[in-house]
Amino acid sequence: MRLSERPVLTEAHIAKRVREIANEIAHDYRERELTVVVVLKGGAIFAADLCRELRVPLTTEYVRAKSYSGTESNGQPHIEIAFDEPLKGKHVLVVEDILDTGRTTSVLMRQLAEHRPASLALCVFLNKPVRRVIEVQPNYSGFTLGDRFVVGYGLDYEQRFRNLPAIYDVRDFTPSQ
Ligand code: IMP
Ligand code: MG
Repeated sequence: MRLSERPVLTEAHIAKRVREIANEIAHDYRERELTVVVVLKGGAIFAADLCRELRVPLTTEYVRAKSYSGTESNGQPHIEIAFDEPLKGKHVLVVEDILDTGRTTSVLMRQLAEHRPASLALCVFLNKPVRRVIEVQPNYSGFTLGDRFVVGYGLDYEQRFRNLPAIYDVRDFTPSQ
């Protein structure tokens, strides 16, 4: 496998969009204190940039979701939740790298809803609506992509490439299931 020579989304393009989403969120939550729930590992880099652009009071919590091996979802998401503070009564914004089939996110959102937050919303950096198997709608979305596999800015291929500052297409991959 190899990566596209040119980024699909450049650093500048990403930074501009992250600022726009942060402004939108800050406006929507101007009267509510936010609890940002970062979905590891993929959401870490997007969330770090987003939180620094969010000029509103907030706290952060982290969950870990695992669903992929290679480029195909195995359909059995595993979610690890360990919160410092209960989410009950909080205004929770889940921050994820990508919404693909929706399997991981639907399970995660259902589990978080059981904690009885005052509100629960979803912010994804990338959205691949054509890949959806389970209906999930993000409240905030950075960019919409077609059916392609990308890496960088937190997104991995077999744990690699998360550190790339831009988004690249993966070409010639052999799905490992
Ligand atoms: P879903 O359960 O199919 O929605 O899978 C969501 C998870 O799959 C994401 O959190 C990513 O870890 C991974 N994923 C989906 N599409 C891509 C991609 O294009 N690149 C890298 N990881 C992806
Ligand atoms: Mg992944």
